[in-house]
Amino acid sequence: MKVVSIVGARPQLVKLGAVAQAFAGTAHRHVVVHTGQHYDPELSDVFFTEFGIPAPDFHLGIGSGGHGAQTGAMLAAIDPILEQEQPDWVLVYGDTNSTIAGALSAVKQHLPVAHLEAGLRSFNRRMPEEHNRVLTDHCADLLLAPTEAAVHHLAAEGLGDRAVNVGDVMVDVCHRTRDAVLAAGQRPELGIDTDAPFLVATLHRAENTDDPELLAALIESMANLPVPVALLAHPRLQAKADQYGLKLTQGAVTAAKPLPYRELVAAVLASQGVVTDSGGLQKEAYLLGRPCTTLRTETEWVETLEDGWNALVARPDRLAAADWHALAVRPAPTAPQGQPYGDGHAGAAVVATLEQHLR
Ligand code: UD1
Repeated sequence: MKVVSIVGARPQLVKLGAVAQAFAGTAHRHVVVHTGQHYDPELSDVFFTEFGIPAPDFHLGIGSGGHGAQTGAMLAAIDPILEQEQPDWVLVYGDTNSTIAGALSAVKQHLPVAHLEAGLRSFNRRMPEEHNRVLTDHCADLLLAPTEAAVHHLAAEGLGDRAVNVGDVMVDVCHRTRDAVLAAGQRPELGIDTDAPFLVATLHRAENTDDPELLAALIESMANLPVPVALLAHPRLQAKADQYGLKLTQGAVTAAKPLPYRELVAAVLASQGVVTDSGGLQKEAYLLGRPCTTLRTETEWVETLEDGWNALVARPDRLAAADWHALAVRPAPTAPQGQPYGDGHAGAAVVATLEQHLR
C-alpha cells in the first residue's frame, strides 16, 4: 500500500509523528508532502527532528498568504505530485488550508482520500478551520474520527458509513513524550521561575488575533493574572501585536517563542494550568492532567469540558477580575478521567483501517 500524507502546519506535524512511526514498522510506502504553510523552524523542522520523521519527500514552499492565494497555490503544487505518485490513499490531517488543498487535489484526480481527525465541529461557520473540516469530511472516502462524538457528527451529516473511530493520534505522541519527560526529570526553561505556580498560555486564532481591541483586551486579561504567565507566541500573534503596537510581555505575562513538543509537555506538566485558544493544547492539558481555560465561545473537544477540566471564556475582560483570576488558577478537578481519546494506539489503528478499506 502506498500512502501520501499531506501536512503543512504545526499541529499536523505532531499528528504525523504518530502516523509516521506507525508506518515505519510496516512494508507500506509512506510519502510525505509538506506544503510549507508553516516555515519557521520552531513551527516545522523541529518536529521532524524531535519525532524522527524522515525529511519530507516533497516540500512545496508555499508559505503564508490569504486563504484563497495560499490554498490555491497548494492545490496547483499538489496536483502534479499526486498525478505522479498515484497512491492507494491520500491522507490529510485536521483542519488547515493544507488539509482542504490536499483533499481537493485528490478527489479531482479520483484518488481515495482519508481524513484524519474527521468529524470535529465547532458549529461556528466564521472559523476558517470549520470550513476546512466540513468540506474535507464531505469529499473524503474514509473518515478517521478521533472520538465517538466526532462519529456522531458525521452520522448526523449522512457520513456515518464512511466513519471509523480510530482514537486520537495526539494521545500516542503526548503520552509517549510525557513518559520521556518524567523519566528524564526534565524541567522547562521559560524565562520565569517554574518552581513557583505559573500558567502556560498561547493565543493564535484569527478570531482572537485579528481584532485589535479584542487582542488588547485578551493580553491585558492575562497580564492581570495573579501568577506568572508564560505566553508562547505563535508568529501570527507576534505579527498582529507588532502591527497594532501591543506589547506581549507586560504585567504577569512573559512572552517566549513556540516550544518544541517535548519542552511544551515539560512546561504544561510543571504548570498549574493552561490558558489558550488552541485545540491541540486544550487536549494536551487534559491528557497531562492540568486545568485549561479556553479563550473561545466553543470547543470541538467537548470531552475536555467534563468535570471542569476545561472551561470556555471568550471575553475574560468582561468577567469580574476576582472571577477571572479564580477561574484561570483553579485547581485540577479530582474526578478521575475516562479515555475519550482512546488508548494511545491510534497511529497503528490508522494504518490498519487504511489497509482494511483499500480499494
Ligand atoms: C494555521 C491554521 C490553524 C492552526 C494553526 C496552527 C489555517 C486556516 N489555519 O493558522 O487552523 O490552528 O495553523 O499553528 O490553515 N507565520 C509565520 N511563520 C510561519 C507561519 C506563519 O510568521 O511559519 C505568520 C505569518 O504572519 C502568517 C500568519 O502567521 O501570515 C498566519 O499563518 P497561516 O499559516 O495563514 O495560519 P496560522 O495562523 O498559522
